Amino acid sequence: MIKNLLSSLVVYLVSALSSPVLITAEPITGNAANGKEPYFNHGCYACHGYRGIGKHNIANDVSGIMMNESVFLIFLRARSELNPPLPFQGMPHYPESSLADAEALDIYAYIRTFKDSPPLAESNTTLQAIIRSAQSQHQAQ
Ligand code: HEC
Repeated sequence: MIKNLLSSLVVYLVSALSSPVLITAEPITGNAANGKEPYFNHGCYACHGYRGIGKHNIANDVSGIMMNESVFLIFLRARSELNPPLPFQGMPHYPESSLADAEALDIYAYIRTFKDSPPLAESNTTLQAIIRSAQSQHQAQ
């Protein structure tokens, strides 16, 4: 079962790479506002933060997995073994029986609203002071 899903993921990704325009053009059909509740109820926030920023970043659309709904759905369904033999901290498997497609697509739309916008290095006065200090020490040598 998992092997089948993984091989369809590989087939999908290979065809995706050969037609990048087609794939990125796929529309977002889920409802972002409705996705907020299931994002929390299904525990996504625990590993991905309240806004997709943290240990495993999913904000800013940078992930290939987040490129469109189809890849995202395949990814959710093709997660780790259902009963890992050891304590496991990887991303859980989300079968359709526990997270329906429609709900997953709402979560997808919600995640796509996440933006990670850290302050620019130039506006961080402490960082600038550290850099100036390091530069003056370097010049003094
Ligand atoms: C127990 C922790 C955990 C939970 C809960 C979890 N994830 Fe993840 N997730 C991970 C880890 C670890 C990775 C990266 C490695 C991997 O693929 O397993 C990941 C990767 C991802 C990625 C791909 C990011 C990339 O780098 O391409 C997406 C998208 C994602 N998760 C969405 C979700 C969604 C949506 C939920 C809730 C339905 C969720 N995750 C729940 C741990 C978790």
